[in-house]
Order: sequence, then C-alpha cells, then structure tokens
Amino acid sequence: MGYRIEIQETGEIFEAGDGEAVLDAAMRQGIGLRHECTLGTCGTCRVRLLEGSVRYDDVPPALSKAEAEQGFALMCQAHATSALVISTARTLATVAEPSRHAAVIKEVRPLTSEVLHLKLGIAGLDAPNWRPGQYMNVHLPDGSHRSFSMASCPGSDSVDFHVRRIAGGRFTDARLAAMRPGERLDIEFPLGPFGLHKADYRPLLMVATGTGIAPIKSMLESLLDDDECPPVWLYWGMRTEADLYLDEVFRSWQGRLYEFQYVPVLSRADASWRGRRGHVQQAAIADLPDLSEHGIYLCGSPAMIDEAKNEFVAHGAQLDHLHVDAFTFQQES
Ligand SMILES: Cc1cc2nc3c(=O)[nH]c(=O)nc-3n(C[C@H](O)[C@H](O)[C@H](O)COP(=O)(O)OP(=O)(O)OC[C@H]3O[C@@H](n4cnc5c(N)ncnc54)[C@H](O)[C@@H]3O)c2cc1C
Ligand code: FES
Repeated sequence: MGYRIEIQETGEIFEAGDGEAVLDAAMRQGIGLRHECTLGTCGTCRVRLLEGSVRYDDVPPALSKAEAEQGFALMCQAHATSALVISTARTLATVAEPSRHAAVIKEVRPLTSEVLHLKLGIAGLDAPNWRPGQYMNVHLPDGSHRSFSMASCPGSDSVDFHVRRIAGGRFTDARLAAMRPGERLDIEFPLGPFGLHKADYRPLLMVATGTGIAPIKSMLESLLDDDECPPVWLYWGMRTEADLYLDEVFRSWQGRLYEFQYVPVLSRADASWRGRRGHVQQAAIADLPDLSEHGIYLCGSPAMIDEAKNEFVAHGAQLDHLHVDAFTFQQES
C-alpha cells in the first residue's frame, strides 16, 4: 500500500510505499528533499508534519522527543502510516549547487596539538560562492568522504578549515597531517543547510564544542560591523585553556558584534583557570534560563547537541529557531 506525500512549499506530490523511508521514496521519484547522512544522525532531513503520521523502526538519534512531539520528522528514517503533508519551510535557500573541484592546499599548520588550520584554493573559482555555516566533502581514493565546515567568510579566493586530528583517522591523521602546500584534494562543495536565519531577528545564542566553532566563527564573522546584528552570546566548550585557539580573535570582536558576550567553558581546566568550567550547554542555561526569544545555533559533538536540544527546549527554546550541525563521523560508502 502506498501513501500520498505532498510538499507544501513546492506542491510536489509523490507516493511512499509501506516499507520504504519517505526520503527513499522521494529520491526514487526524482523529488529533491534535503539530506546528508541518511542514517538519522545529522538532522538535515528534518521537516514539519502538517498532516498525517509516521513511524520509525528505531527512533533516530537526531530527533529529540520534544521535536517528535512538536510534529517534526526525519525523512530518511520515517515511514508514512497515512497520507502526509510536509513543510520544508525552515530550510535556507541554496546559494550555489554543490560541485566537485580539485582544491589546492595553500597552507596546513597546527593551531593546537590536535587541530590543523587548512587553507584551500578552489581551482576555477576566483571567489567561491557559499553560505557561512556550510561544509565541504573531501573525497578519498577509496570512495569514502570526510566532511569539514568552512571557518572563514565567502568573498576570497581561498577558504579556511579547522580540522581536528583524529588519532588513527584515515584522512585527518594518516593523510592530511603529511600533506604540503601545492598538493590537491578532491572536494565537493558547498554542502549543507546550516546557516544564519537572518530574517529571524532574535538574540543569538551560539554554542559550539571543539572544531564545531568553525561554522559558528564563519557565521559570526559575516555579522561583524553589521548594524542589524542582534545581541550575540557565544559559548565555546573545550577541554583546556591551550585548546582555545580562537580566544584572541573572539576577544578582539568586542564592539564589532552587538552586545557580544564570549564565554569559553573548559571541561578539564587546571587550577589557574578563572573562567567557566563544566559542560558548555549548562553554562549557557545558567546565564540564560529563558531561551524563548533566542535564535539558537548548536555545532559540534552529537552528544552535546542531543543534550543541549533537550535542555534548551525545557528552558523555552523554540524548535523552529533551533538550528544544529552535528559533526557525526563518516561512514564507509
Ligand atoms: C557536516 C559535518 C561537518 C564537519 N566539520 C568538521 C570540521 O569543520 N572540523 C573537524 O575537525 N571535523 C568536522 N567534522 C567531523 C569530521 O568529518 C570527522 O572527524 C572526520 O571524518 C574524521 O576523518 P578521519 O578519516 O580522520 O577518521 P576515520 O578514519 O573516519 O575515523 C577513525 C576513528 O575515529 C572515529 N572518529 C571519526 N571522527 C571523529 C570525531 N570527530 N570525534 C571522535 N571520533 C571520531 C571513528 O569513529 C573511527 O573509529 C564534520 C562532520 C560533519 C558530518
Ligand atoms: S539525512 Fe536524515 S538525519 Fe541525516
């Protein structure tokens, strides 16, 4: 038995069979729905169910209880149990279609003992067009790919990345750490729905762990000296003070972002640290117990994002204004 699925914004209609995920059905029929991991872990395929109901074989990790209760569903894992009308309204417009490039390494240097700064020139593009918050995929010879978010702003002929070196990682440890300027990477870019929802003028709460700061830095950099910048709180969770490789940069942004509050939070600080300690999401809630008016952006470890989503919703956050970019690990393709 098949069910009729309608996308409210485009009016497109397709049919999903009993045993197939709605995303698979859409793709089979040539209908474009945003997706990335197809495993229920990234949240990219989240839509709002306006009519109808779905079921999951296993509740996907990227869908919180609050999201499900408020009518959101993940199309890569959801099976329709009735006709559906879905809304994709909260996704940002595409700035450029993704395409493959032979990117040239302009610089690889350590930012900390674990994080590399990578600067790429993208051949054939004088000023690559992308949205702060998006990422690229590096394609490896074995057919798999690895994702990394842009850390700089569009408008230049090169793009910056912050790459955490994963011990034993096939790309970040075995390959990238040994690469030199002039060598090439096969990349696909720009990708992903993450980005600033500028039309929603709300105080901004940005929360990142680790190199999850990369797309957040890019988004905030795009707001520097902007008269329409809303108040900004930035919480950055790291382990030790030595890990805070952008500390000086963020401190230098005082006065360039409206009412900018930058709060580094360390989970393994030594006794000399005078700043905040613990989990970054808890520090944000301690300072901002009512999140009902905020535009919230979370980026970094899936564990932080899961916990923060649930806690922030319990403190009034509205899911329509809560945007996430989870750094899930890549699967073999
Ligand atoms: C949309 C998106 C954007 C991302 N942006 C960034 C970014 O800007 N900067 C960045 O540093 N990372 C980012 N990541 C995470 C990054 O893609 C992975 O860390 C990377 O794929 C590791 O590749 P590897 O070949 O070195 O490790 P692999 O060989 O794939 O993995 C080796 C081992 O390490 C584990 N592992 C892999 N990644 C991680 C991780 N992040 N944390 C803990 N364990 C891990 C694997 O499960 C495996 O056991 C992003 C991920 C996504 C999905
Ligand atoms: S594509 Fe559905 S959660 Fe990632």
